[in-house]
Amino acid sequence: MRPQPDFIHEFIPGSSERTLLLLHGTGGNERDLIPLGGELDSRAALLSPRGKVLEHGMPRFFRRLAEGVFDLEDLKNRTNELADFVTAAAQHYGFSARKVVAVGYSNGANIAASMLLLRPEVLSAAILFRVMVPLIPETQPNLSSVRVWIGVGTNDPISPKSETKKLAELLRNAGADVTMRHFQAGHELTAADVEGAREWLMTL
Ligand code: MLT
Repeated sequence: MRPQPDFIHEFIPGSSERTLLLLHGTGGNERDLIPLGGELDSRAALLSPRGKVLEHGMPRFFRRLAEGVFDLEDLKNRTNELADFVTAAAQHYGFSARKVVAVGYSNGANIAASMLLLRPEVLSAAILFRVMVPLIPETQPNLSSVRVWIGVGTNDPISPKSETKKLAELLRNAGADVTMRHFQAGHELTAADVEGAREWLMTL
């Protein structure tokens, strides 16, 4: 029997080989980023799980102890759980496990970054909106075939640009091809972010 993907999720088949793994922010759910996925690539399949951790009733992908202070044990476990979900979903739905592009916003971007650092085999590329350093891995991953696009809000108080720059350096040191774009914005996602990410995705 094929493994069952064990997150509440949406899956929408596509007409190309690419699958976008959509990862929502704190308080979001599996339906939130479906329109964004369609805007970024109308031909890609969309796989959109709901984070399993509840913070005052709001779904997240991992526990935090305070704003920007992560429960690292939980983050590691949840990262592995999410990576296994993607692998199981690829078998279950029959999409290519080699063409999965994460699209994460805020908390979703942070777990996507964690997956790049701890389970680099799962993603071929990632679009990270409003992201920070989720953790420092014990061993450096090999990201030499991975491409990453990062959207930074220049006035973002939650994911400050200095913090995002550190993540870009971490990913580049591991061999990733990183494109970082800055937008006149706070933590919210802007139309300019979406357009920048869409144009970049078309070049992959
Ligand atoms: C996080 O907890 O992942 C970040 O602080 C972003 C957020 O969800 O507010």
